[in-house]
Amino acid sequence: MQIFKRFAALFPAVLSFSVFAQTQPILVQGAMDIETSTLVEALDDAKQTTIGSWTFWQGDIDGYPVVVSRTEVGLANAAASTTIAIEHFNPKYIINQGTSGGHDPKLYRGDIVVGEASFNMGAYKSEFTEKGKGIDPTKWQNFDVTMRLRENGEFVEHKQFKADPALVETALSLSEEYKKGKVVRGLIGSADEWNREVDRINWFHETYGTSVEEMETSSAALVAQAYQVPFVGIRILSNTDQHKQDFDPQTAVDCQLYTIDVIKALIKKQ
Ligand code: 5AD
Repeated sequence: MQIFKRFAALFPAVLSFSVFAQTQPILVQGAMDIETSTLVEALDDAKQTTIGSWTFWQGDIDGYPVVVSRTEVGLANAAASTTIAIEHFNPKYIINQGTSGGHDPKLYRGDIVVGEASFNMGAYKSEFTEKGKGIDPTKWQNFDVTMRLRENGEFVEHKQFKADPALVETALSLSEEYKKGKVVRGLIGSADEWNREVDRINWFHETYGTSVEEMETSSAALVAQAYQVPFVGIRILSNTDQHKQDFDPQTAVDCQLYTIDVIKALIKKQ
């Protein structure tokens, strides 16, 4: 009995040691198959897990653990899959990458935006107007996200979610090697929207300073913020109505290849 008690007392210590001894993986996200398959191919010994309807591939790059996550499309999918990934894999960093539509007229298809920040571009409030006064989206105002601080439960308003500065710098440090376009810092606008009215695109760009729009980054960033996991979004322009450039699926591959180089650079720094 005495021996059993001693063993039982040791057990939590053994368990916690094994949890902390595990290297925390880098989590890399993409919404669709075309945005994740190149990353999955880059993994050594990939093991596939599906939780709910979200799939994850655990493997290694250069001997370091990496988890590829297919978030599926849209804000709710991105939030759910990020929460599951953090709870399940305890990542050290999160990179959300993939395709996007251009807002900044200086950017062309193939250019890459490293998101210094992202925000929910589709959260609106409007002032009261009388019946018959019409609808004017240019008067709608962006709605901040209110979150509670983990430490004390206090409310904090978030206009945007800032990326981790060190991850941003690492992502930008490879820009010279990228041959398909420019790599720039920028602001990522996320919404369950695909905007093609150029006046609206310009309104977003002029009002909020958006570089690109897409449908996941700020939602993944919100969850990363809640758990205080360093986060960055890397988005390639797959289309831009500023220059009448339609969606090119090759850009999804190019963004993953760039992100693999970023992951390797991060691994070298460990
Ligand atoms: N607007 C919105 N989402 C876009 N995506 C690529 N281009 C755009 C765009 N112009 C991405 C989204 C989503 C998928 C439909 O493609 O992030 O995952």
